[in-house]
This record gives sequence, C-alpha cells and structure tokens, in this order.
Amino acid sequence: MEINIENIYKNFDGKKVLKGVTLKIPNKKSTIILGKSGCGKSVLLKIIYKLIFQDKGVIKYNSEENVDINNFSMLFQYGALFDSLKVWENIAFQAINEHDNSINNLKEKVIENMESLGLTSDNFYKYPSELSGGMKKRVALGRALFKKPQVIFLDEPTTGLDPINSNLINELIVKTIKEKEITAITITHDIKSAIKTGDLFYYLEDGITEISDTCNNLFKTTNKKLNYFLKGEK
Ligand SMILES: Nc1ncnc2c1ncn2[C@@H]1O[C@H](COP(=O)(O)OP(=O)(O)O)[C@@H](O)[C@H]1O
Ligand SMILES: [Mg+2]
Repeated sequence: MEINIENIYKNFDGKKVLKGVTLKIPNKKSTIILGKSGCGKSVLLKIIYKLIFQDKGVIKYNSEENVDINNFSMLFQYGALFDSLKVWENIAFQAINEHDNSINNLKEKVIENMESLGLTSDNFYKYPSELSGGMKKRVALGRALFKKPQVIFLDEPTTGLDPINSNLINELIVKTIKEKEITAITITHDIKSAIKTGDLFYYLEDGITEISDTCNNLFKTTNKKLNYFLKGEK
C-alpha cells in the first residue's frame, strides 16, 4: 500500500507538535522516520494508523482517504504483551477474540508464525514474564504479523534491547518484510538500526520534514540539522 501524508498538523493543548508534515510511504518498501525524542514521531505514526486524528492535512492510502485499518499492524514501543496470557494467546489474541477460527486451527497457525520468527515450540505455553527481552520482542512481532498485514508500523523496535538482540530483531524485521512484501514504517532514534532495516528515510525536526533520502545516503548528507542529529545520537 502506498501512503501519501500531506501537510499534517497536530496540536496538544496549544503546543504545536506537527506543523505541516509531508511524506510519501512507497508500497512494499521499508521507510524510516527519524527525529529527536519528543519531536512527534509516535504522534505521526498514530495519526497514520488512525488511532488519533490530525487537526489539518490529508492522508491518502492508495489514493483514497478511507482505509480499512485491519490492513495495519503495529509493533508498540514496549511490546505491550498481556502478562496474564500465554505466548500463543498473545500472538493470536485478536483472532481468538473474533472467534473466526477453531482453537486447533489457530494453534497450528501460531506454531508456523513462531517458527518463522525463531521462537521454538517450548515457548508456546510460557507467560511473558518467563521470557527475555529479545524473546518478548519476537512475540510482539509475531502478534503484529499474525493477521498478515499489508502495512506494519514499528515504534522504536529495538528500544530496551542490547546490541546483539537489536541486531537479531533488525535482521528478523528485514527478512520478514521482504519475504512477505509488507510496507513497513519504522520510527526510531536508533540510527544504526535505521540504515540496516530501511530503504529510505525521513528526518523530522521542528514539526516538519527537514530532509529525506535513501538510507544509503544517510551518512553522506550535507544537511546541517541532520548532521547535528547524527553526531548527537551516535
Ligand atoms: N495525548 C497527548 N496529549 C498531550 N500531549 C501529547 C500527547 N501525545 C503526545 N504528546 C506530546 O507530543 C510531543 C511528541 O510526542 P511523541 O510523538 O511521543 O514523540 P516521539 O518523537 O519521541 O515519539 C511530546 O511533547 C508529547 O508530550
Ligand atoms: Mg515515540
């Protein structure tokens, strides 16, 4: 799905967070949105996902303003697993609630889903509290992928992970979105992850898109604000 974000504004209690953000998310590519903490990345993601609404501006999904958000999935910043549910129930949470499949059928699908993410079957009946941070992220990714979304939103996917687990999750994300031909939108301030998992990037500052380019060109930028950001975050 191609998504065109045109001139988006968003205020909170008079505080201007987004001041005319414009960007284009190409179909089946991995787009990274970079920016300092607090610059409005999560707000923008939630607006694209239609969890909250913009004050002004238009978003078009394959040229239409209407979209079925069932085509979307989100990997939330802190994974947001349900502590009282087992791993398999976390992954199939939505489908279990919608009763659109038999439990045995769902369990089979969860096994497939877990295998593709390197989660062995001994984790099936575990609770999130029994898992490491990296494993929890995989389960959260499993849940985001379970309904086979056209578009996946990833909010700081490597937050809280050590460098080894960050790399593993990044590799998994790249492999999955390419294999399944998903349009991916990642917001992050983790630049190393960004260049590994992204095709193109947008850099936001002061509520607008400061610059965009392919991820290959990120470190070659001559944009002063972006360079300052890159130096600060390395
Ligand atoms: N629901 C809300 N009510 C009031 N202020 C909000 C709300 N959501 C976000 N903000 C503010 O918007 C700004 C951008 O937040 P956010 O998008 O979370 O930043 P980040 O780029 O770190 O993801 C912050 O100043 C935050 O306090
Ligand atoms: Mg955020």
